[in-house]
Amino acid sequence: VRGQDREQDLAGRRVVVSAGGTREPLDPVRFLGNRSSGRQGAEIAAAAAARGAHVTLVAANVSVPVDPAVADVVAVETTAELRDAVRDAARTADVVVMAAAVADFRPAAVAGTKIKKTAGAPAAIELVENPDVLAELARDRLRAGQVVVGFAAETGDATGDVLAHGRAKARRKGADLLAVNEVGDGVGFGVADNHVTLVDAEGRTVHEVGGTKRAVADGLWDAVVPLLGAADA
Ligand code: CTP
Ligand code: CA
Repeated sequence: VRGQDREQDLAGRRVVVSAGGTREPLDPVRFLGNRSSGRQGAEIAAAAAARGAHVTLVAANVSVPVDPAVADVVAVETTAELRDAVRDAARTADVVVMAAAVADFRPAAVAGTKIKKTAGAPAAIELVENPDVLAELARDRLRAGQVVVGFAAETGDATGDVLAHGRAKARRKGADLLAVNEVGDGVGFGVADNHVTLVDAEGRTVHEVGGTKRAVADGLWDAVVPLLGAADA
């Protein structure tokens, strides 16, 4: 739907979007991180605001400008901080979109002072697993009727192509929608255009959308709107 209807089809809705990439400190100057700029998540937040939503953006090291129409921006660094901020905002949200690239692991210990070069081989970095924020949201449903949306960044490998991995991930996560997104050299991260296949919790294709990250964002909201219950009076 174009024009007036689509323009305000999120009026009165509260949405939470996470964007960017979490960083896990090793010491005061170093971290384990990823290449996410936050551009796609920032566009999802901006598109929702343009369609009338009250938007909270949980921004993990986002390196692109955020549309001033986004009502709240909560800056976070680590996965633990992102989890707290997303869950806090999700308690009153109609929709949560996890567009952030969340670190799967973090160093088991964080040095209080800068790690120094030593003679001999460096010590291996021991990692522990982070909580899966999206799977928790899908399980807990912090607000009744809440729509939970995730992203699946995939490259495809010997065991399956991008979509096969995406469908399997959708079934594992339990989110209402998973936006399956090819990443790698020159695709997905850090580039202007994007292409996603939206699959449901059973891995069935619901919607396909490509083009600018803003077009992908609007395509995502087009798929979310029909899943929303009646708006609060
Ligand atoms: N995600 C999350 N918490 C994590 C890891 C991922 O909430 N600890 C979310 C991401 O924000 C994204 C979705 O889960 O919406 C899928 O992330 P992805 O990295 O593609 O999937 P993983 O389940 O981490 O699997 P893998 O990295 O092994 O492909
Ligand atoms: Ca991951």
